[in-house]
Amino acid sequence: MTKAMVINGSPSMEKGLTATVLSPFIKGMSDAGCEVELEYASRLKIKPCACGEMYCWYVRPGECCIQDQMQALMPKLKAADILILATPVYIPLPGAMQDLVNRLCPLINPVLEYRAGRTRARFRDDVQIRQIGLVSTGGWWERANMDTVVRIAEELAEDASVQFAGAVLRPHANLMKVKGELTSDGQAVLDAAKRAGFELVSQGAVSRETLDAVSRPLISEEELRRRYNQIA
Ligand SMILES: Cc1cc2nc3c(=O)[nH]c(=O)nc-3n(C[C@H](O)[C@H](O)[C@H](O)COP(=O)(O)O)c2cc1C
Repeated sequence: MTKAMVINGSPSMEKGLTATVLSPFIKGMSDAGCEVELEYASRLKIKPCACGEMYCWYVRPGECCIQDQMQALMPKLKAADILILATPVYIPLPGAMQDLVNRLCPLINPVLEYRAGRTRARFRDDVQIRQIGLVSTGGWWERANMDTVVRIAEELAEDASVQFAGAVLRPHANLMKVKGELTSDGQAVLDAAKRAGFELVSQGAVSRETLDAVSRPLISEEELRRRYNQIA
């Protein structure tokens, strides 16, 4: 059975908009037969990478010098076929999520390759991960506002020489709800997020049509800007 490890980096954890989009996405993955485990970066209290000398590469390859909850997370990460990073855009990442991404370094074999003009590496032999995907929410209107976060996830996949499984993006995510209640447009977005999870596991990729349905504008840019600026 395919296994997925999902890390939600939102400081709002279960209550956040990232979790709102991620939940049906995970349901879709499970419906397609994937065993999914979810962790919250903020709850894990992962310490920042502080070994400096790249201990996990050049002193004790594959081992981290920091004792915290990352030690318990490592075997779960290694056993996953798919790694999903889920995060709000925080210009670009929330701190806890960035700390966790930094701490993935011991999973990568310290042998550099040079491909297409870029220095890359590969996951260690005991790491199962073959795909890295992204689920992200943001507050501003345009999907392009999430390009930096997408690039971070893509870059991680390229550095580890695994496939980037795509980016499920929900801009102006707050408009899925009015006074805390999901709108019909919001429900349509969540239905598409569920399809995205299903397609990722059953087809190995999410269709452009489904990605567009998750991201589709819920309001004009002018109207969103007007609402934000009225509050300010
Ligand atoms: C510190 C901070 C920085 C943010 N920066 C951006 C940004 O650059 N672009 C954007 O679209 N939204 C930005 N947002 C809005 C969040 O990404 C958005 O509200 C997101 O859906 C929150 O998800 P959550 O409820 O799971 O935390 C920012 C929010 C915070 C608190």
